[in-house]
Amino acid sequence: MRRPFPSHEAILTSLEFTLNGQARTVTPREGESLLSVLRERCDISSTKDGCAPQGQCGCCLAIVDGKPKVACAVPAIKVAGSEVVTLEGLTERERDVIAKSFVAAAGLQCGFCIPGIGLRAKHFLGQNPNPTRDEIAKAIDVHLCRCTGYTKIVDAIELMGRAFRGEGDPVVEEAGRVGDSLQRYQGHELTLGDRPYVADLKREGMLHGALVLSSHARANVLSIDTSQAEALDGVERVIVAADVPGERWYGLILKDWPGLVAVGEEVRCVGDMLAIVVATDVAIAREAAALVEVEYEVLEAVLSPQRALEADAPQVNPTHPNLLSHTVVRRGPEVEGVFAKCAHVVEGHFETQRIEHLFLEPESAVCEPRSDGKLHLYTQGQGVFDDRRQVAAFLGIDEEEVFVELVPNGGAFGGKEDMSIQAQTALACQLTGRPVMITLNREESIRIHPKRHPLWMDYKVGCDADGKLQAVWSRMIGDTGAYASVGAKVLERAAGHGCGPYNVAAVDIEALCASTNNPPCGAMRGFGANQSHFAMEGCMDMLAAKVGLDGWEMRWRNAVDVGSLFSTGQVLDKSVGLRKTLLAVKDEYYSVLKSGRAMGIACGLKNTGIGNGASEWGKARLAVEEDGTISLYNGYTEMGQGLLTVLTQCAVEVTGLPPSIFHPKVDSTYALGCGQTTGSRATLFGGRAVQSAAEKLKEALDKVASLDDLRGSVYAADILIDDTTAPGAEAEFIKTHTSFGYATQICILDEEGKLDRFIAAHDVGRAVNPALCEGQLEGSVHMGIGYALSEDLPCENGWPVTYKLREIGVLRARDMPTVEVHLIEDPEPEGPFGAKGVGEIGLVPTAGAVAGALEAFDGVRRMKLPMKDSPASRALSVGKIARRKN
Ligand code: FES
Ligand code: FES
Repeated sequence: MRRPFPSHEAILTSLEFTLNGQARTVTPREGESLLSVLRERCDISSTKDGCAPQGQCGCCLAIVDGKPKVACAVPAIKVAGSEVVTLEGLTERERDVIAKSFVAAAGLQCGFCIPGIGLRAKHFLGQNPNPTRDEIAKAIDVHLCRCTGYTKIVDAIELMGRAFRGEGDPVVEEAGRVGDSLQRYQGHELTLGDRPYVADLKREGMLHGALVLSSHARANVLSIDTSQAEALDGVERVIVAADVPGERWYGLILKDWPGLVAVGEEVRCVGDMLAIVVATDVAIAREAAALVEVEYEVLEAVLSPQRALEADAPQVNPTHPNLLSHTVVRRGPEVEGVFAKCAHVVEGHFETQRIEHLFLEPESAVCEPRSDGKLHLYTQGQGVFDDRRQVAAFLGIDEEEVFVELVPNGGAFGGKEDMSIQAQTALACQLTGRPVMITLNREESIRIHPKRHPLWMDYKVGCDADGKLQAVWSRMIGDTGAYASVGAKVLERAAGHGCGPYNVAAVDIEALCASTNNPPCGAMRGFGANQSHFAMEGCMDMLAAKVGLDGWEMRWRNAVDVGSLFSTGQVLDKSVGLRKTLLAVKDEYYSVLKSGRAMGIACGLKNTGIGNGASEWGKARLAVEEDGTISLYNGYTEMGQGLLTVLTQCAVEVTGLPPSIFHPKVDSTYALGCGQTTGSRATLFGGRAVQSAAEKLKEALDKVASLDDLRGSVYAADILIDDTTAPGAEAEFIKTHTSFGYATQICILDEEGKLDRFIAAHDVGRAVNPALCEGQLEGSVHMGIGYALSEDLPCENGWPVTYKLREIGVLRARDMPTVEVHLIEDPEPEGPFGAKGVGEIGLVPTAGAVAGALEAFDGVRRMKLPMKDSPASRALSVGKIARRKN
């Protein structure tokens, strides 16, 4: 470990301070932070650990002697004699105003960052009772939110200000029909930090685990000596690969990822796990993990996909060749012949970067033995049934022996599709017979979970004299790192979306996915579409300039409509709202153009549902409980997007019952076997299943006097969509995906080339909950701007060069331009009440729009992300990496 943890044996004298008005005496470890004292010794749950000890996320905020402090950066001994206040210590009135304000403004999504922001806002409003929006944005600069894009957080703080000034309390939406902005499920508890995340769970006699990770990107493991760690007081067990009773290798698609690397095998990236230390507390576990000695024979690491595909490159993963996949999307006449007849042809090489998800809640898992002999695993992964299947195989037991419960997570964005520490935690529980928790710190999280793929793309696009596209040719290569994850699918999606949302008669696209010894890459919001859209939108701008058209007109002339073909040959036969999104921004576009301000425009489409031949299920069970409530079981995951609220609204719409009666749950009570929230599909598939189950409940309700008469009954619905075609399949009709979302975005700069305003018009099919839908899109634009201008996770020798949140480049509130969202409803007949997915499309066009605006400002066509050489990027407060040596 590069950062030695202070010895757990070095005990200080007792520390006395006041916490929320109560005198407290604790005995901290040497070097222990105030955050650790609050969470581990004082049962405070509103202070969250998003980045300790960096002090860069604000989730751990506390008020110390009247001043806001990030508690992870305050040594506990410094608060001797101090007054410490957390959200738990505010008056009931103050807590109520904070919670109602965030809920009414839809100012929270996953909620992990919100308790810290709420406490900061309360303190700030005490000093500045009637602030401007800019002043609010500056006041929360310490705080990072990965979900919301901050607009609705600032709205919430304005509502708080009004309430505290006595100008009226926020009004929370109670109506829950489809089309109402029903308050977020558990929004009150999330805002106040009262609804636990996995790392907040407490169990009697719980042990804590810490991991020993690889010190090299590629090396042979010659020996692992655990003796010193085992000798440490408080260590219960040190677990290595030989202790795994079942299948040690797992993976979502290929079983190519060892849960623990054995002596005699290779480590393949710096996130590989070699041992798990289980101890009575986390400090002892981490100290012992540092005592595990691993002897390596260092090997040449494969550090780029180009090197991976050379004939003499070492094979990265023994289960498959370095070329993981080769996707071909070819349709229409041979492209070179078409290019020869084009009036205009443009070519370019585009590159996009590796991106860290930076969900605010690092990975955590808890597993405990149940009285019936089963294991109960609490996970924050994106698919509880995938977790159960893989964990049971790892442990060598039947799936029925593992009960899995989702604890709605603090953000995921695709980064929690693969397992992280679920299997290791369950194994530690199985071997010790005790409850065990493993929680990653930020550095470990970044080393272990898959990232967004960096892509290298060559493009050639031609059009006729009127600007009508004729042919697209592209060759792409992506770095998928050490493990397959869903990398092949990401490159398949990049290629499939390679023409953007445009009519093109001749298509020739190939995409290679290659293994390296870099950190793995897998699913991340946009799933390959962002990368190819950035390149295609750049080509659209270059062609528009040659033809002499403005950006809007160029896109209008080529926009797909009902009856058009998707790149793969699928007929887009329904719910194609692209032209409506273009019309929604048209007046503003030409008004800005006339003003002479620098502006860029880009369009996008993104599939809903995995498709490509996969069978996809939506399953729901509505169980009328003895207490008169209804448990709503589904398999898809709540990760901040508001799924549990939206599913409740689908049930309310059908039954007419009040939303408060429904309790949505994601666990393995019923063997639903569906889920893995991916491909923007949870609302579509989950919502349809809930709609169908609710129709059965409604039918029963209509035959009885009241819901009481139905206690103990269960209403079930299973929806199967299996009519999509696999890539390359011989089929009369190609249907690659169930549905698509469409968008047009405009980026407007100020006189200095800085971000000023963003307009995002999106075809969402039907906005089941307009406020949550809008919030998803605002948050996506925030992520897309970071992708365009500041976010990056470069690696050297297989190591990420930074783990610091500000350097990784996620935008702060002060960096965000105004974002105006237009919700366009072009109903999707296959979706519930016309809805389709909006989880990913929000950032698909964003980088293209920013690149266009920058070119309009300074004449430079940028073809590599992030565009840090631009005035818009230089003006941001994040993304400056001071390189460090690993
Ligand atoms: S956990 Fe303290 S600032 Fe992030
Ligand atoms: S709501 Fe802010 S990080 Fe999720």
